Amino acid sequence: MDGILVLGIESSCDETAAAVVRDGREVLSNVINSQIAIHRQFGGVVPEVASRHHIENIDLVIDKALSDANVTFSDIDVIAVTYGPGLVGALLVGVSSAKALSYALKKPLVGVNHIKGHIAANFVAHKDLKPPFVCLVASGGHSHIVWVKDYNGLEVMGRTRDDAAGEAFDKVARVLGLGYPGGPLLDELSKGGNKETVKFPRVRMEDNSFDFSFSGVKTAVINHLHKLDQNNVSYNKADIAASFQDAVTDVLCDHTIEAARKKHSKIVTIAGGVASNSQLREKMTERAKMYGIDVLFPPPVLCTDNAAMIACAGYYEYINGKRSDLTLNAVPSLSV
Ligand code: KG4
Ligand code: ZN
Repeated sequence: MDGILVLGIESSCDETAAAVVRDGREVLSNVINSQIAIHRQFGGVVPEVASRHHIENIDLVIDKALSDANVTFSDIDVIAVTYGPGLVGALLVGVSSAKALSYALKKPLVGVNHIKGHIAANFVAHKDLKPPFVCLVASGGHSHIVWVKDYNGLEVMGRTRDDAAGEAFDKVARVLGLGYPGGPLLDELSKGGNKETVKFPRVRMEDNSFDFSFSGVKTAVINHLHKLDQNNVSYNKADIAASFQDAVTDVLCDHTIEAARKKHSKIVTIAGGVASNSQLREKMTERAKMYGIDVLFPPPVLCTDNAAMIACAGYYEYINGKRSDLTLNAVPSLSV
C-alpha cells in the first residue's frame, strides 16, 4: 500500500485504542474499546481496574484496527504509542505491546506524548490545516493553551495551576449527582438551564498570564449548594450546571482568544475531551469571529482519547527523524 502507514496505540487512561493512519491524515481504521461502563460503578477511573482491562483487550483492539483497515502487520511502517502522561499501569500495557510488535516485526517505534496526540486530532479532522495556530487542549487531566509553531514544535502559553477543566466538570457533575463521566452529562443538562442564575467566579491570574485555575469555581459551586441545602432552599440543577459551565467556558474562550491575538493567529483549534462541549464550541466560534479568527475542532470521537490522533502525531515525529528504542518506558507525568 502506498504512503507511510502508522499503527497508533493508546492506553493512557480508560480507553484501549488502536488505529491505522496513512501519511498522518487518512484514517483507515480507528478502534476504541471504552471502559466507561466499568468505571461508572466506582464513580471514576480505578487505575488498577483500567490496567487489567487494557491487558485483556489490547491484542483484540489491534487486530480489529488491522482488519478494519484491510491491512496486515507487514503493511505497517511505523508503530506509534502513547508513553505519557497518564496512569502508569495503563500506559505500560500500550508501551509493552508496541515494543513487542516493534521487536518482532522489526518496525520503527515512536513514543508519543498524549497531549501532542490530542492536538494532532485536528490534523486528522481537517485535512488542509497547517501550523502555526493556537490550540486549547482541555481534557480530564490537562488544560493547556499551546502555540503550535510547526508539526513538531510547541510553545506552552498557559496551563492550569490546579484542576484541569474536565476534572472540574466531573467534580461538579458528581456534586449534582449526575454520574460519570460528568462532562457530557453536565453539558446536556445545561441546555435546559438558565446560565444567568448564579454568577460563579471567572479567575484571572494576578500576573495576567494565560494560565487557568478551576479549583475556585468548583469550590464556589459546592459552597453555593451547601448554603442552599442548609437553608432548605430548593434549586434547579440545570440552572446550576448552566451557570458553572458558562463560567468555565468564558475563561477558556477569553484566554485562548487573547493568546491567539497575541500571536496574530487567525486560527484557533480546540482539542481534548472538553472540546466536545457544545457551549465551548459555540462561544469560542462566536467570540473569535469578532477578531476574524476561525475556530476548528474535531468531531467528538476524535476529541476524547483515541489512537488515530496518536498515529498522526507519531507520523510527524517519525518524518522528523524521531525513533524510540526498546528502553522506552511509561512516563506518567510527561510534560508537553
Ligand atoms: O481527553 P479525554 O478523553 O481524556 C483525558 O485525556 O483526560 O477527556 C475526558 C474528559 C472528562 O473529564 C470528561 O468529562 C470531559 O473530557 N468531557 C466533557 C465533555 N465530553 C467529555 N466535558 C465537558 N463537556 C463535554 N461535552
Ligand atoms: Zn486524553
